[in-house]
Amino acid sequence: MPEKNRQKRNLRPQDTHYDVKDVGLAEKGRLRMEWAAQSMPVLQQVLGEFTKTKPLEGIRVAACLHVTSETGNLMKVLRDGGASVALCASNPLSTQDDVAAALAKEKGMEVFAIKGEDNATYYRHIEQVLQREPQYTMDDGADLVSILHTQRRNLLSKVLGGTEETTTGVIRLKAMADKGVLAYPIIAVNEAKTKHLFDNRYGTGQSTIDGIIRATNRLMAGSSFVVCGYGWCGRGLAMRAHGMGAHVIVVEVDPLKALEAIMDGYQVMPIAEAAKVGDFFCTVTGNKGVIRKEHFLRMQDGAIVANSGHFNVELDLEALADIAKERRIIRDYVEEFSLKNGKRVYVLGEGRLINLASAEGHPSSVMDMSFANQALSLAYLAQNCRELKPQVYPVPAPIDQRIAALKLKGMGVKIDRLTPEQKRYLESWEEGT
Ligand code: ADE
Repeated sequence: MPEKNRQKRNLRPQDTHYDVKDVGLAEKGRLRMEWAAQSMPVLQQVLGEFTKTKPLEGIRVAACLHVTSETGNLMKVLRDGGASVALCASNPLSTQDDVAAALAKEKGMEVFAIKGEDNATYYRHIEQVLQREPQYTMDDGADLVSILHTQRRNLLSKVLGGTEETTTGVIRLKAMADKGVLAYPIIAVNEAKTKHLFDNRYGTGQSTIDGIIRATNRLMAGSSFVVCGYGWCGRGLAMRAHGMGAHVIVVEVDPLKALEAIMDGYQVMPIAEAAKVGDFFCTVTGNKGVIRKEHFLRMQDGAIVANSGHFNVELDLEALADIAKERRIIRDYVEEFSLKNGKRVYVLGEGRLINLASAEGHPSSVMDMSFANQALSLAYLAQNCRELKPQVYPVPAPIDQRIAALKLKGMGVKIDRLTPEQKRYLESWEEGT
């Protein structure tokens, strides 16, 4: 890259191939990836296929994902499938530095991600990935796509297609498509059943509890745990908090979801009421300003507040800072806000997604299906993108079905088939009692 451009974009010379915390961590990262791969049989199957058939031969991919051991395995599949991939983090606090080092050093990949990077570095890393002039994007939260459509429109004409991993990203992309500004087709991986029914529900459920416990080491049994949002992530989180012995309170804006939460056995109330009684609070709504100043002011002394939604905007942390007279980090990932009203509120992981900030994100076994969806959707795009319009598309149903079947096979589980008579019955309407 010419020196003048590098300076213009505030890049350091050594950042051109990778920018990771410490390449000396590579061996630890390699082992971590190997451990994850053992629980990812579907992705291993896809790896075997891609290595032989090279469905991604010659394509350039910009990936903006949480840089974890599971993502490392996905990157390997894309590379062995023929793609050249540049990877940056989709959140400043979610990178596993040893995995980033392993990808950069051992696999020779272009990686730009450091855990705890500030916002300027986070966006610089996105820029570095975009400098590879991608033909395909693989995003988690749609920050990469958003920068492409605002600050880097000059690159858009080269982009043929993309995939999006998460609910928040899909919401943003659908808004772009509705306003007619989306420039290329994107497959919403999150919409696949083998993604959200497992990753969002069981993955978020377990990893969020894991993150809160690793950060605080507090007992959940007997506590009041407030879950804000009863989508797939909220359902999973409520289920697991209940399993830990907590009394679960659900906060919702959607009457249907609120009803479902009640019939699932939880108490439902507005956040203004829940604020007074919760010991733990966790937002998983995908929206902003869910817990605000007036709610922080009502909380009990010692309340613990976390977010497991994609962005930290779910908590109004500026308002919390305004009503605090003192702040300090009391332990890793726990910040104490001493309020002017004499009470203390503890915010975990700067309000960023706690399952990746203080824990390791979703377990490999669920990411197995999410990332098989990513890899197969990208291969589908590489073949079909020219027939697609600049809209948000679901994962093709045969891919979803195939991943479910492969996952069962990987688990050694067999299921029944319909008999010919049962098939006929399902296709007919004449037969009654
Ligand atoms: N999102 C949630 N958990 C994740 C993980 N383990 N790897 C990548 N993205 C994730």
